[in-house]
Amino acid sequence: MSNIMEVKFSAKSENESLARVIVASFAAKLDPTIDELADIKTAVSEAVTNAIIHGYDEDESKFVYLRCEINENEDEVKIVVEDRGNGIEDVQMAMQPLYTSKPELERSGMGFTVMESFMDGVTVSSIKNDGTKIVMTKKINLPK
Ligand SMILES: Nc1ncnc2c1ncn2[C@@H]1O[C@H](COP(=O)(O)OP(=O)(O)OP(=O)(O)O)[C@@H](O)[C@H]1O
Ligand SMILES: [Mg+2]
Repeated sequence: MSNIMEVKFSAKSENESLARVIVASFAAKLDPTIDELADIKTAVSEAVTNAIIHGYDEDESKFVYLRCEINENEDEVKIVVEDRGNGIEDVQMAMQPLYTSKPELERSGMGFTVMESFMDGVTVSSIKNDGTKIVMTKKINLPK
């Protein structure tokens, strides 16, 4: 059977590290390498930071939703990070390397690029003024 975990937390930047730790402990069951775990934690950080900064404009009264699933074969972890905030008008443009809508905050526009390079799959669905959902998957411990 698959294994599922769900949590919601306030859109506070201090909760970014919480999200990383939660996902890392959950995925630890798959016995990932240090590198695999670091990749997952980085990708989660990027997605959660985006939800807080872009989705909610740092409104701490809002919530970020995090869901993790380990598949039946126990060789893949799926992570879903969701906000019910601003949404993205043009997802394709937003995912371009170096694109940022907040250059004044010294963002580099590399969050999605990082997620895509560290994970095996990244899917973004978003509706303007409704929210954004990021689904990321990573294979763990594939036979070398
Ligand atoms: N959850 C979200 N809600 C609304 N807009 C988003 C969300 N996530 C990303 N975006 C939009 O996509 C753009 C690109 O995101 P990305 O993470 O690649 O770069 P960034 O956050 O601007 O900079 P960096 O991640 O390098 O600090 C953002 O500037 C923002 O306009
Ligand atoms: Mg970002």
